[in-house]
Amino acid sequence: MSRIASVDAWEVLDSRGSPTVRVRVETPDGSGTFTVPSGASTGAHEAVERRDGGDRYGGQGVRDAVAAVREELAPVVCDRDATDQRAIDAALVESDGTADLSRCGANAVLGVSGAVAHAASAARDVSIYEHVAGLAADDTRSADPGALPLPMVNVLSGGLHAEGGIEIQDFLVIPAGAGSYSEALETVRGVREAVRRRIVDAGHRPLVADEGGFAPPLAGIDDAFDLLAAGVRDAGHEPSREDVAFAVDVAATHFYDEASGTYALDSVDHRLDAEGMADLVARWTDERPLVSVEDPLAEDDWDAWTTLHDRIGDDVQLLGDDLIVTDADRLDRAIERGAANAVLVKPNQAGTLTRAIDVVRAAQRNGVAPIVSARSGETCDATIADLAVGLDAGQIKIGSLARSERLAKYNRLLAIERGIGRYARPTFGGGR
Ligand code: PGA
Ligand code: ZN
Repeated sequence: MSRIASVDAWEVLDSRGSPTVRVRVETPDGSGTFTVPSGASTGAHEAVERRDGGDRYGGQGVRDAVAAVREELAPVVCDRDATDQRAIDAALVESDGTADLSRCGANAVLGVSGAVAHAASAARDVSIYEHVAGLAADDTRSADPGALPLPMVNVLSGGLHAEGGIEIQDFLVIPAGAGSYSEALETVRGVREAVRRRIVDAGHRPLVADEGGFAPPLAGIDDAFDLLAAGVRDAGHEPSREDVAFAVDVAATHFYDEASGTYALDSVDHRLDAEGMADLVARWTDERPLVSVEDPLAEDDWDAWTTLHDRIGDDVQLLGDDLIVTDADRLDRAIERGAANAVLVKPNQAGTLTRAIDVVRAAQRNGVAPIVSARSGETCDATIADLAVGLDAGQIKIGSLARSERLAKYNRLLAIERGIGRYARPTFGGGR
């Protein structure tokens, strides 16, 4: 028992220089701070962050969300037991009163929810990942923390994270053959450096996008895969499912034209319908060591997802981000319809830590692989690293091995690795 004595909040800037919410929660036994991330390629069904509008920061200010924390949410949680995350999150959701948390703002609600977890772990004198493991214990899982997650790491960026680049948002590598988390990082660093060298040798500048991936001029999607494969070989590895595998985040909703029901993929030179997208994905999985495909179809095209899943089977991870938006009901629907076999888990899509924890546990119970994920707008807050270990998620997606808001999380996992040697070895597509 550690009663919350005070809650404070203020506006800080994220990795894109956009305002975001930072919250501090104090108890007599320990205090904690959490900073809310923010997406660019957001799903339509995410919990809604509150922005001020008006002239400050182009309308992106979060003073109203900060005021909601101080004036509305602080009184709700003060005096409550910080270690009872579930009760606190329920009270926060009830106080907001909307399903999408738009009244106070999901950025206000998650700010408090995350800071409470940090304060509670400080009060209990345990690491966040140990605290989270305790919060998430249920009849199928003990309160022991899990393994270090396998990272999927962005190397090439496009879409809304690298305007003017290729439509596909992320080309990532998965160091499947590494024997430990630290070895996985070393492998990826070698690949990323080799890709950087090739970009420079081709006469381009190796400038990085929002998540630290490179966004060089590319002739098309195959060109991106070829560059990735060449980088893997330069680094002394094999592009294969067993050594260094590939993943993509298509983020297809963001080039989907609802009126015509087509995907405007200029880099393949024409508009594709859902079947055309499925053909494209099937070709990639045939020709490339691709083990994970995220959001290859629009966020509400449930039938097309099921059809694609039936077609490519479970050897490949079919990963729902905008499709499921870390929402328990949408996850249920995806399971019922066989629409996906993996779910991206972003706490700010859910709006509370408890909701994110429940989505991970529901996924694990149903053989759906959870991948804990950062947003494109981040700070050096490293909570998701602890979340991945505490929940034994098995995989994590943070962005590239560049930019300190990304490295803060990779480095936090290196610190956790000093205490936990276990390393997750997921089999792709079949859940865990
Ligand atoms: P976002 O991108 O944070 O801009 O939504 C991350 C992702 O799509 O996985
Ligand atoms: Zn995504």
